[in-house]
Amino acid sequence: PLPLLVALIGGYLCGTIAFGLILTKAFGLGDLRSIGSGNIGATNVLRTGNKKVAALTLLGDLLKATVPILIAWRWGASAAAVAGFGAFLGHLFPVWLGFRGGKGVATYIGVLLGFAPVGVLVFAAVWLGMAKLFRYSSLAALTATLVVPIAYLALGDSLAAALTALLTVFVFIKHAPNIARLRAGTEGKIGAKG
Ligand code: G3P
Repeated sequence: PLPLLVALIGGYLCGTIAFGLILTKAFGLGDLRSIGSGNIGATNVLRTGNKKVAALTLLGDLLKATVPILIAWRWGASAAAVAGFGAFLGHLFPVWLGFRGGKGVATYIGVLLGFAPVGVLVFAAVWLGMAKLFRYSSLAALTATLVVPIAYLALGDSLAAALTALLTVFVFIKHAPNIARLRAGTEGKIGAKG
């Protein structure tokens, strides 16, 4: 159990690094909390108009899950899964931000990359297809996170399926305001300024 605890806490601490907030501040783009959706993720950074900083946020929020997972693999698949879950929880509920974190999409992709990378291809294909069709980042992410656990199940990777199904539940809960806006037809489209 000690490696599992270390993986959980180490993953969590990595996950709490809010790259969106740090980078927008560092690049003088204003307070992300008062822009667009107010979320700390890459989609909202894009609403500042700076694609480079949005891409860096995506990369940072993604790798902060991948790196602890890759380290935890030395203790086996369970430790790797726990590290990924910890990082994801750290992003959603960071202690430093009063537990008010992000929605977990980039970090979800980071978990896929570190734990069972074929899921990244599934995620990317669904996300890109949905984004091209409807131009909503939230809808693309919600659809992708629904498909990924099913894809793992179809591929016979039941641990990856279980882990990602759990993360998907959190992604949906965190997207409640987005789901309400999608239903009302008021959700912001990708690239529209906030
Ligand atoms: O990555 C989160 C995305 O799905 C929604 O972000 O800022 O539009 O609420 P946002």
